[in-house]
Amino acid sequence: MQSTEDIVAEFAARPWRGVSEADLGPAARVPTMLTPEEGQLYHWLGRRVAGDGATVDLGAYAGGSAARLLSGLALSGRGFHVHSYDRFRSSRAFWAKFMPEEPLPESDEADLLPVVRRNLAPWQDKVTLHVGDIGDQRWSGGPVEILSVDAAKGAVMADHVAREFFPSLVPGRSILVQQDYLMSVQPWLCAQMVCLRDQFLPLAHVPKVGLVFLCVAPVTPAALMAAQVGELTDGKLMQRVRQAADWHGGMVPRGPFKAMLDQIKAHPGLRLGWQMRRGAS
Ligand SMILES: C[S@@+](CC[C@H](N)C(=O)[O-])C[C@H]1O[C@@H](n2cnc3c(N)ncnc32)[C@H](O)[C@@H]1O
Repeated sequence: MQSTEDIVAEFAARPWRGVSEADLGPAARVPTMLTPEEGQLYHWLGRRVAGDGATVDLGAYAGGSAARLLSGLALSGRGFHVHSYDRFRSSRAFWAKFMPEEPLPESDEADLLPVVRRNLAPWQDKVTLHVGDIGDQRWSGGPVEILSVDAAKGAVMADHVAREFFPSLVPGRSILVQQDYLMSVQPWLCAQMVCLRDQFLPLAHVPKVGLVFLCVAPVTPAALMAAQVGELTDGKLMQRVRQAADWHGGMVPRGPFKAMLDQIKAHPGLRLGWQMRRGAS
């Protein structure tokens, strides 16, 4: 097993940047909201996986993140299976933006499943689609090697994701990707993770807003309780964002954390990203 020091050095060299379009194989053609570097990271994470547990993809949209993970996992030499979670519904606006090649549906809430099944057909025996609200889903699938979180768009959901999935991460080995970590309208993510700093070690900031962590200790019920964010007052939330800014000093500039504080001040009590973005009250 790799030592934590070796893993830190491995990520510091940012080797995913060497992943080419050709390396991605059929995954390169699957539409995604990920940036090109995030796509390289997902493929590389799959390729370097060090155990035979599951990979969990929370927030799949058209299957872009899953495809990139799968194309890497297929080269890992390990047993693997990807569990992708989503409502698998899309607005017309997102459909037109991210899948311009697909015929535009007539209404919002369009069913993505036929598109996703086609996109993930090269790996169909290696992926399970979990359809519905992630807030209603439980995890009982054993150890998780890679957990990608791209759906904790509210504070209550962030608590649910942590409660269901974090305890299955394997200390010293499992990787957590917090895809939206530095988004100004999701300050609960860093507020949660800073309370789990004994359990997770930041490994890399992958632009634009993602952070990659190594699980270094079991996530216990007590740790989860201490890290809850759903019921925090604005004052406590801001305090934790400031602690997170200190924690990530050297890896992330303070600007994104300042933007989070500004959002909390501008939108007291709001705990859903889309509400903050729209400035709803
Ligand atoms: C940013 S997109 C994911 C992008 C995707 N990883 C990719 O590679 O293109 C976020 C996804 O999370 C899903 N999502 C957000 N909240 C959810 C929830 N509560 N339950 C199920 N899916 C959810 C949305 O439907 C959306 O497809």
